Amino acid sequence: MSKRYTITAALPYTNGPIHIGHLAGVYVPADIYARYKRLTGNDVAFICGSDEHGVPITIKAKKEGVSPQEIVDRYHKIIKDSFEDFGITFDNYSRTSAKIHHDTASEFFKTLYDKNEFVEEVSEQLYDAEANQFLADRFVIGTCPKCGNEESYGDQCEKCGTSHNAMDLINPKSAITGNVPTLKETKHWFLPLNKHEAFLREWILEGHKKDWKPNVYGQVKSWIDDGLRPRAVTRDLDWGIPVPVPGGEGKVLYVWFDAPIGYISSTKEWAAREGKDWEPYWKDKDTKLVHFIGKDNIVFHCIIFPAMLKAEGSYILPDNVPANEFLNLEGNKLSTSKNWAVWLPEYLQDFPDQQDVLRYALTANAPESKDNDFTWKDFQARNNNELVAIFGNFINRVVVLTNKYYQGVVPTPSDFSTIDKETLATVKAYPAVIESSIERYRFREAGQELMNLARLGNKYLADEEPWKLVKTDEARTKTIMYVALQIASALATLSEPFLPFTSAKLKTMLNTTTNAWTDIASKDVLLPAAHQIGKGELLFSKIEDDTIQKQLDKLEASKKANEAANKVVEPQKDEITFDDFTKLDIRVGTILEAHKMPKAKKLLVLKVDTGIDVRTIVSGIAESFTAEEVIGKKVTVLVNLAPRALRGVESQGMILMTENAAGKLVFVNPDDANVSNGLHIS
Ligand code: MF3
Ligand code: ZN
Repeated sequence: MSKRYTITAALPYTNGPIHIGHLAGVYVPADIYARYKRLTGNDVAFICGSDEHGVPITIKAKKEGVSPQEIVDRYHKIIKDSFEDFGITFDNYSRTSAKIHHDTASEFFKTLYDKNEFVEEVSEQLYDAEANQFLADRFVIGTCPKCGNEESYGDQCEKCGTSHNAMDLINPKSAITGNVPTLKETKHWFLPLNKHEAFLREWILEGHKKDWKPNVYGQVKSWIDDGLRPRAVTRDLDWGIPVPVPGGEGKVLYVWFDAPIGYISSTKEWAAREGKDWEPYWKDKDTKLVHFIGKDNIVFHCIIFPAMLKAEGSYILPDNVPANEFLNLEGNKLSTSKNWAVWLPEYLQDFPDQQDVLRYALTANAPESKDNDFTWKDFQARNNNELVAIFGNFINRVVVLTNKYYQGVVPTPSDFSTIDKETLATVKAYPAVIESSIERYRFREAGQELMNLARLGNKYLADEEPWKLVKTDEARTKTIMYVALQIASALATLSEPFLPFTSAKLKTMLNTTTNAWTDIASKDVLLPAAHQIGKGELLFSKIEDDTIQKQLDKLEASKKANEAANKVVEPQKDEITFDDFTKLDIRVGTILEAHKMPKAKKLLVLKVDTGIDVRTIVSGIAESFTAEEVIGKKVTVLVNLAPRALRGVESQGMILMTENAAGKLVFVNPDDANVSNGLHIS
């Protein structure tokens, strides 16, 4: 039954190119879904665009000394082009700096304002006097009140995902100057989420307990259970959509207020171009709205945006929000700023015409229910052991043998054996198997089922061995090749959502375009006898170790570059007076005994002869020195430091250490031979 689908994929921020984390989490599953829905005869609007507002973009612009517009123009083009080259089939890819979006978002805000859906409030907000700027969102960093992460942003903690107001941060610091912010009064408009709590509870917690993914449902539940509070939806910034109501001068809409409305404006732009009406895609109850996002976007798509849509009143709500977890890369978190990523534009350059390999590897390893790791070794194995050895091998045998034995003409079968019949029946059942996975947003399972069909074909040929029978049993050989060609034809259609470039090539090879997804289950014949197929060409080729090594080397280089960039030289401390200095009583001592403090990684307990006495000093050097190697060493000791208990042992002084040129911890070592024990070196 044909249905209308509005499928959205998170609008990417235009402050960097797309990487594999974005692809695995959002765009690949969204595109599989959209392609599948089109193939099965639905009316689909697959919507995306660039998210061009927000603080990170202005920070990047400032860093590069260019305007924010220059940054978003640059990345909008890079992102849009790479999606296209990669085969993501958005029906429209817009941008939030477009006029249609400014108008749509402005109007949306005004509607809520007129309906009295906002709370207007003058309150104290964090302010950086030196930068002459209010601090919200990514302009402020502090400790997350929920999980204790010291690097939380003002609007969201990346560690635990909690979304908060900048004022909630403990020990906030300006990301611009590093200053401790002051407070300054300013007026803002708040969306009172608390007012929508009952509706959200009923709609999600009761209505979608069964059909939403547990990771999504669980997050939403914990937020609602924590209690919802009003959220400011305006900001004191100059980059964004101006607040279109009295008193809004100099203020803009919060980026997370305008961005999801971007789905609507992008749909409008598409409809206008196609001569369609956009409204049913957002307002007709029969339309299924599905948001594909990463897990850091859950609160915005499951709580804030639905509350906005509900408050506006004329819109439908999402039917599902199949958010994914995160993809890591070679064991580390993907990071745009640390250049720890596989960038799509670079991939497309390094692996021309191999879009499907990445798509397949990312699907096979999609972070659907937990974070997952992308490794280049796995990528290579997926290609060599599955795409080449199973899918490619099967197709190659079928096409080559058909050309060799029958000049490319599909042979007429005679009696089908039990195996043949079973095989053909299994093929017919595949669409339903794959569908059932896709409908539950289990794309990795769906992708594996597709590969299982290729496996079935491979096994069929290996068992039936037409290349042997061709010498003795012509009729049987024809039947086998006929059956194999039906499997190949089913693969050509069913692979389209998962391996679109391969599917297109395969259709050309088989000289067929006609089969729809539903034909596979309903038709007895997919490639009829006497149909002429085309010539064979390789669908996949082996990826060698040196190709993979190049990618690993690239990552190693960016790790090195990062370490170098991050090596911060501690700035000089505040000046002290000569009197301050003479207070230090520094003497040369000898370590007489040493042992490790039990259950403490860093601590050694030392007995030191200071020349005045023998005392116990606990020193945090156990990661650099063993107890054995420090016994007998002459060391420099600060003897008049107030005693302090460490793990229950009183430390009566401090051994002076420093770093040598190589960055290794070394003793401040008196010239052993010439310095007598107990020399007072003040
Ligand atoms: N730009 C956001 C991100 O990359 C996603 C925005 S999704 C939308 O995390 F709903 F706001 F469009
Ligand atoms: Zn946190």
